[in-house]
Amino acid sequence: MDAKTHSPANSAQLKVGDKSWNLPVHHGTIGPDVVDLSKFYGDTGMFTYDPGFTSTASCDSKITYIDGDEGILLYRGFPIEQLAEHGDFLETCYLLIYGELPTAAQRADFMHRVTHHTMVHEQMSRFFQGFRRDAHPMAVMVGSVGALSAFYHDSIDIADPQQRLIASIRMIAKMPTLAAMAYKYSIGQPFVYPKNDLDYAANFLRMCFAVPTEDYKANAVLARAMDRIFILHADHEQNASTSTVRLAGSSGANPFACIAAGIACLWGPAHGGANEAALKMLAEIGHVDRIPEFIRRAKDPKDSFRLMGFGHRVYKNYDPRAKIMQKTCHEVLAETGHKDDPLLGVAMELERIALQDDYFVEKKLYPNIDFYSGITLKAMSFPTTMFTVLFALARTVGWIAQWKEMIEDPSQKIGRPRQLYSGATKRDYVPISRRK
Ligand code: ACO
Repeated sequence: MDAKTHSPANSAQLKVGDKSWNLPVHHGTIGPDVVDLSKFYGDTGMFTYDPGFTSTASCDSKITYIDGDEGILLYRGFPIEQLAEHGDFLETCYLLIYGELPTAAQRADFMHRVTHHTMVHEQMSRFFQGFRRDAHPMAVMVGSVGALSAFYHDSIDIADPQQRLIASIRMIAKMPTLAAMAYKYSIGQPFVYPKNDLDYAANFLRMCFAVPTEDYKANAVLARAMDRIFILHADHEQNASTSTVRLAGSSGANPFACIAAGIACLWGPAHGGANEAALKMLAEIGHVDRIPEFIRRAKDPKDSFRLMGFGHRVYKNYDPRAKIMQKTCHEVLAETGHKDDPLLGVAMELERIALQDDYFVEKKLYPNIDFYSGITLKAMSFPTTMFTVLFALARTVGWIAQWKEMIEDPSQKIGRPRQLYSGATKRDYVPISRRK
């Protein structure tokens, strides 16, 4: 059934003064109904006002579903727990882009295509030399992914489905290469080329941590953990960076430039930067004895301190990704010999205390994915500046799937919100000699 099916019985009525309008109501396959306001301005001469888009469905999508109250996350209908347990990241990429899990032949073909697009144009390495050594790797990612738009001219006709697909494969394939280059550049080590006989995650770890002077073998437990972290971050419906990619793409902009716009948005501390903040907070707490003091501060309305890695705009229950992240965290710490890391002890005790505290229970504040991801990535030897880069790498497939869905939607239009104007009304220009 088309999500937009509605009958007159399914309509909402809006009354302003003595006028009233019937507004169509659409039902999705699951989730809240939506009131259709697309003709609202034409019919009423009024705009709707929704800063932060907290009540606005910006598109009709079939990719990802979140039930924040129940703590459910589905990619194309499949629960995140099942994909993380039984699937792998490239299969998840296929699922997000094509809508179905691949058959064995489709999977092999997709892996071949991604693997054979992992190298970046050799001139990219010279492009990197233009960045200061101490540049934040996210700044390097915004610049270098944007620069891809100047390198691959044969995949930028977004009206051609084949070119759209090649651009999509290129971005999934090249993002780990660029992310590893951003890391290597920041520490002054030579870039490591991708290696085609490794899987996606192991290849990425090798590009980050191998040096030409020594043999490198990716640790299977860490490669599996990396792959799972990528799955958990692959998509999250219409979040800020995804909406940015859709909005940038709605003008018909170059696909690589659209993804660079998404990376720019993700960089902000309210979005992709929270795992770094959670790790810093755990280090600041330092010992389980100090937890009550920090819980007290988090509850104090006069104190701006918040428990980082707690709470979520959409999840008002345990973030399903946080549970998987917690398990992955234990596996990584055991493998790397950090299982007695005091930060893990602080994290677990903090979680235990907060989940029993009335303040957190009543406000439905549960650990989110960032609560455990910082400790995990630190144990895997990633510096904190790389955390958001890893997020961007994984989210690229979500951005691409959403961008493709938008371009392929026949009802797609350029995104153009309106405003509630509260500035000066019309007035006449004052010559400078008469200004006070
Ligand atoms: N610690 C203490 N109190 C909190 C916290 C927290 N982490 N989060 C929310 N609250 C309180 C607020 O003070 C507010 O209290 P009030 O009703 O008395 O004013 C109430 O809970 C609601 O909070 P809002 O900020 O209005 O909720 P919103 O949905 O806008 O915010 C957010 C969600 C930004 C994630 C918030 O919970 C937060 O700041 N958390 C810490 C940062 C964090 O972990 N961000 C990662 C998000 S996940 C991601 O981006 C991948």
